[in-house]
Amino acid sequence: MVYNRRQFLILTGGLVGISIATVSHKILSKFQPNSSQNITTETAKTLPINQVVAIAPDGLYAPIKGDVRIIVISDLNSQYGSTDYEPEVDKAISLIPQWKPDLVLCGGDMVAGQKQSLTKEQIEAMWSAFDVHIARPLRQAKLPFGFTIGNHDGSGSMSGGKYNFQQERNLASAYWNNPNHNPGLNFIDKANFPFYYTFQQQDIYYLVWDASTHIIDPKQLTWVENSLNSSQAKQAKLRLAIGHLPLYPVAVGRDSGGNYMAEGEKLQNLLEKYNVHTYISGHHHAYYPGKTGQLELLHSGALGGGPRKLLNSNLSPQKTLTVVDISLGSQETVYTTYDMKSLQVIDIQTLPESIGKIIRKDL
Ligand SMILES: [Fe+2]
Repeated sequence: MVYNRRQFLILTGGLVGISIATVSHKILSKFQPNSSQNITTETAKTLPINQVVAIAPDGLYAPIKGDVRIIVISDLNSQYGSTDYEPEVDKAISLIPQWKPDLVLCGGDMVAGQKQSLTKEQIEAMWSAFDVHIARPLRQAKLPFGFTIGNHDGSGSMSGGKYNFQQERNLASAYWNNPNHNPGLNFIDKANFPFYYTFQQQDIYYLVWDASTHIIDPKQLTWVENSLNSSQAKQAKLRLAIGHLPLYPVAVGRDSGGNYMAEGEKLQNLLEKYNVHTYISGHHHAYYPGKTGQLELLHSGALGGGPRKLLNSNLSPQKTLTVVDISLGSQETVYTTYDMKSLQVIDIQTLPESIGKIIRKDL
């Protein structure tokens, strides 16, 4: 792999003054940076210099790249019907290739629907704007894009056995099934794409479910269990699950029923049973890296409108992007989360130690 001059300087600059060394991945995995720190703060062992590579856009804190690097973004939309995105969204999309990720994941709410009065033309215009601002630049950068449908993309809410937002679901499906919008994933099962599907990238198995509402119906739950029980899922080095709503609430104003999964514990048990490493969600518009039982929980913050405060916290709401560096050997993940207004790294120790039954990831 070829790195540009700046990346080389980060690497060599970070190692000047110490015996040339690299860091065992285990040590790196424990490293949670403050924005002012650099990689010289942790050193050990002798390994070839090219095994430690810190990569980030110019001027930003550069985390050490894992075996696999994922960038997680979420909740991109602005107000209902909007065909524009806030500056942090465009800034994030323009910077993403410079982190050199292997995959971009989105926790949903890519457009601003869930309103009955929106016409077909308005909804199509929103998806066109999404394509211009987000999907097309990522396709052009040849970055695979995994995503889950949010309540504003194509809500699965039902009344009398029918979808309340059938047209929005139809148009979301039409957008994503258009060959021109191919997200570049290695699909395993796309029979119900874009609502629920599986794919595999670099030995990691990804299961996406439709958590655009708080209920996953029995048919889909059976599909989830069969998918996680498949040989492909079991043989993968790591399993990740993605859905819009979190299992449990983490944000102010999102702790009422309907804003998190109705059967969080049952779903947690299901994911644990099949050794899923992390469940990644959106909707709460507040970054919180957590864990409960055997399951890690990455609550992604919003990039678009309406960032929220965490429960148990006085921190101001922040728009965030998270770089996830994964060590396949040790099964550890390191999050580097940037406030996309200041471009500073969020110090995990400023976040609450727990929210309900969720414990902060580093504790
Ligand atoms: Fe949402």
